Amino acid sequence: MCGIVGYVGSKNGIEAVFNGLIRLEYRGYDSVGVAFKDKNKIKTVKSHGRIKKNDVVPGMPNLEEKLKEDEKFKFNSNIVIGHTRWATHGAPSEKNAHPHVSMKGNFAIVHNGIIENYLTLKNELINKGYKFESETDSEVLAHLIEYFYENDILSAVKKALTKLEGAYSFLVLSEAEDVIVGAKKGSPLCLGLGEKEFIISSDESPFIDRTKKVIYINDGELILIEKNKYNIINFEGLNVEREIEEVPYDLEAITKGGYDHFMLKEIHEQPTTIKNAFISRIDHLDTMLRDNFPKLPRNINRVIYLACGTSLCAGKVGMYITEKYAKIPSRAEYASEFIYRDPVIFEKDICIALSQSGETADTKEALKIVKEKNAYIAGLVNVVGSQIARIAGKGMYLHAGPEIGVASTKAFTSQVVAINMFNMLLIDDIKYREKLIDELKKLPDLAEQIIRGTEPKIKVIAPEISKFSDFLYLGRDINYPVALEGALKMKEIAYLHAEGYSSGEMKHGPIALIDKNLLTVCILTGEKEIYKKTLNNLLEIKARSGRVFVLTDDVQAIKDHLSDEDYIIEVPKTLPQLSPIINVIPLQLLAYYTAKHLKREIDKPRNLAKSVTVE
Ligand code: AGP
Repeated sequence: MCGIVGYVGSKNGIEAVFNGLIRLEYRGYDSVGVAFKDKNKIKTVKSHGRIKKNDVVPGMPNLEEKLKEDEKFKFNSNIVIGHTRWATHGAPSEKNAHPHVSMKGNFAIVHNGIIENYLTLKNELINKGYKFESETDSEVLAHLIEYFYENDILSAVKKALTKLEGAYSFLVLSEAEDVIVGAKKGSPLCLGLGEKEFIISSDESPFIDRTKKVIYINDGELILIEKNKYNIINFEGLNVEREIEEVPYDLEAITKGGYDHFMLKEIHEQPTTIKNAFISRIDHLDTMLRDNFPKLPRNINRVIYLACGTSLCAGKVGMYITEKYAKIPSRAEYASEFIYRDPVIFEKDICIALSQSGETADTKEALKIVKEKNAYIAGLVNVVGSQIARIAGKGMYLHAGPEIGVASTKAFTSQVVAINMFNMLLIDDIKYREKLIDELKKLPDLAEQIIRGTEPKIKVIAPEISKFSDFLYLGRDINYPVALEGALKMKEIAYLHAEGYSSGEMKHGPIALIDKNLLTVCILTGEKEIYKKTLNNLLEIKARSGRVFVLTDDVQAIKDHLSDEDYIIEVPKTLPQLSPIINVIPLQLLAYYTAKHLKREIDKPRNLAKSVTVE
């Protein structure tokens, strides 16, 4: 996710912001920029690439060199804003990098979040004669503030806020006034109070070694920062008194948002990332789908999901959705197998590549094979501008923000949201679409509910769970890929042997494994018939004194069959095609707390890389 930082004070503001941006690098970014007042004129210096020269990738553009390029540049200013951009709308480039400047040059802004109604606002401003330089949603803010400006920046910002929908924290630099205005709704913003200086930013990391005094801005508040004072007001214009606190964390803890590991932070981000995957698209769904998947062939022959690892588990979910609801033949292929199978591909096949990193070599090579055979390709990718996204040339970005933990969590749930939206293109049923959209909108709250409802219990049982040497994860139908994903999590971070299996297949061999050292994790949700059949599998395990960990949306139907030695986790009901998003979360937490109890290197598990860029 993006990082914003601003400086107002008596020292060298560009140095403070430059170093602050370096501290925000952990948030992930692909372009960077600063804006400051140089002889009372707003000047911006932006760069695709990194903040500093990157020795790993020589020749990559960077902000530091651009700042030095300007021979007039004295590397000093007292009012400065800066931004590290994690691309969501518009590819990584200097043009799309923040800060964005208003058309007449009166304001520069840096923004973190998503302006959901940016397309509507952009069209309104274009009709009023505004010219846009970038493809971003954020640029709308700069022109909107300029449009409302009548010699009072605070009033102009307040008017602009009334038009915005979505999550944001942003900073505005004004040419006419020696101030920075900040606003917050949904994305973090805090103010460091230093010695004759203020530093405002997305988190405490840019200023923690200059001051530990901090004020946290709340949603619905604005802050006006001047040379020696600041003033917080709410969106209604009322002054707000806010106590000055002491930064509670050290630098390492800040980058993890106070969580012990990035993986846990990313599990907890899912209510937000699930929402970000659909919220700025759902109101113009048809336009979005047509734009993102242009010229879809008629009479589609098949939909093939191509991926590796967790992304393939999402692809297998897609296969069920496409077959069951779009009534189109579908398959999900391990990319590493697909490459060497000399696959038969038809021009009327659609191939969807799924990848968090967009750099997975097997998925990239498999996609190239399909492209050479002239079939339709598209990508559901998290990293904007990544190789797989570029090869695909179309599709949807996940908007999940950077996933730092090697074990993929929020990317999976965002992929399943994106797969559901893609399939709406294939399903010509307005009632299906309306029902799905209604249920989609409930998902962020359901995800929050499931985290809050299951995490305490999973934390408590983790020490017992970690004593098992083997795990069998069982799921039927759309829960089978969830069983695979749950088992993958347990393998890769707890280093415990875990197999995902179709619950119907359990009788054809794996049932021989049942003993006191093996725990069967069973996903029991969904349509009655599927629930009943999977319940039977569970009873077969119980009949052999096997111990079970049950994930269910119908506790009443199962609780009398379990003993005190078993575990039961209740999950909220949702549509089957959305249930993997909910059902996977307790399994992510189960693997996390088991691994934590075993003191594993959770964010960087042994032998694993975040992106497998070799075949
Ligand atoms: C999942 O937790 C693993 N880190 C791994 O299986 C990963 O999903 C796989 O390597 C695919 O990565 P991608 O989504 O970046 O293509």
